[in-house]
Amino acid sequence: MSRALFSPALLATELALPRPVSRDTEDLENVEGCSPTARVADAKAFRKTSKAACSPYQALPIQGPLVTVDNPGPASDQITHHLTPALPVLEPEDGLRKDLDERIVKVINDYKERLTERTKHHLGYPYNLDFDFSALEGLQRFSINNLGDPFIESNYGVHSREFEIGVLQWFARLWEIDQDEYWGYITNCGTEGNLHGILVGRENLPDGILYASHETHYSVFKAARMYRMDSVKVDTLANGEMDYEHFRTVLAANVKRPAIVNVNCGTTVKGAVDDLDRVLDILWETGYSEDRFFIHVDGALFGMMMPFIKKAPRVSFRKPIGSVSVSGHKFIGAPVPCGVVITRQKYVAALSSDVEYLNSRDATIMGSRNGHAPIYMWFTLTRKGYEGMRKDVERCLRNAHVLKSMLDQAGVKAMLNELSSTVVFERPREEAFVRKWQLACEGEVAHVVVMPNVNMAILEEFVTDLIASRTRHFLQAAMKVASDARAAHSDDSDED
Ligand SMILES: Cc1ncc(COP(=O)(O)O)c(C=O)c1O
Repeated sequence: MSRALFSPALLATELALPRPVSRDTEDLENVEGCSPTARVADAKAFRKTSKAACSPYQALPIQGPLVTVDNPGPASDQITHHLTPALPVLEPEDGLRKDLDERIVKVINDYKERLTERTKHHLGYPYNLDFDFSALEGLQRFSINNLGDPFIESNYGVHSREFEIGVLQWFARLWEIDQDEYWGYITNCGTEGNLHGILVGRENLPDGILYASHETHYSVFKAARMYRMDSVKVDTLANGEMDYEHFRTVLAANVKRPAIVNVNCGTTVKGAVDDLDRVLDILWETGYSEDRFFIHVDGALFGMMMPFIKKAPRVSFRKPIGSVSVSGHKFIGAPVPCGVVITRQKYVAALSSDVEYLNSRDATIMGSRNGHAPIYMWFTLTRKGYEGMRKDVERCLRNAHVLKSMLDQAGVKAMLNELSSTVVFERPREEAFVRKWQLACEGEVAHVVVMPNVNMAILEEFVTDLIASRTRHFLQAAMKVASDARAAHSDDSDED
């Protein structure tokens, strides 16, 4: 093909590519939407309105009435509507670059202050916020990308595959699978690990039905929808664990089709652990041989904790499981979301294909993959080692028990599963309190997930605050009864 065929002008007209905005191209001034000055004006106008702007979708009521300060009692199944304000992209005022730089510094400094405060008052989500990666300063200058298969280097040389494989080896040892039998990669999060695990199950057992309990993380049923799989929701027991008898019943009803089973190693809200051995027994008793089932273990949080608890059932590839996933930013802690998924090498072939452009193999959910994440994980695992992790787990379980006892003493109904550091308690009624401590609520309950950064001082401050909030709420409720009674009998005097 001649060079003329590749001229940008030809591409722009024939393929209707967007017109480039060039500051020295006079004629673009006249093209609608392409003029640099029009764009600056547009941006300025947008800045004025964007704070309040929200699309019809964003303004849709989500479920139930809006929860406000005047209406502080959220009902179950209701989410509150805190619409996100925009921070418009800045434009230099009259071309003053220096002024713009100063404004950027102020925005970032204010933001850092907010992050520091929000980090101090966070108890609801299972994130370890205690880490120090200052030794890794400078890496931010590199666009580190592990695109493709971790074990097969692409031509892109700015990668961190050696760290990634090191971390995978660490997890392979933790979950007891031989180095030459596993395959895995560092994901963007626990959700991606679940999407991958279920996909591996589906690709190996294409006619399989997905079984997962009601209290399973939403990403597992999302996988079923994405892959157009039939799925069955299994009932749960009061503590959040799978109802095994219900599992047996639904499995028996579909015995002709293979089973892809999600086993929870710590449910999102109650921290419940499904009994893997019991699930396996039920599969065998119902007539399933190993080639007709695939088990994915969702260990987003506890997959990292259970191997360090003596009494806990073992998450191990010595049992016939297909894959395990965990989040890296949860128990380990990282400044970016990340995770790990490990499966058996024999299973991954079903979804692998060579991609010449990558000069690697495609078997992951994503194409480009965060190359910084493996370095954060490698760094923390190296510095703490198995022993450091074990100590973190021990401290979290101890502090969770202390919190549960403090709540018991304060008259707040609370529950703590035996192998868990997730303390479940009555949903606080004051929305402002929930927001202050960034609590995750569902129905009538809220929880605190005790992570390595949660120390006794934080728990004391939290419980003090909770008692004050409850006192305010109950006092207000009691006084409302009194004022309603006064209004109903306004002709009665106090003496009566
Ligand atoms: C049990 C469980 N699985 C999966 C996830 C998803 O993890 P991530 O937020 O890393 O995507 C979570 C998140 O809280 C979880 O609790």
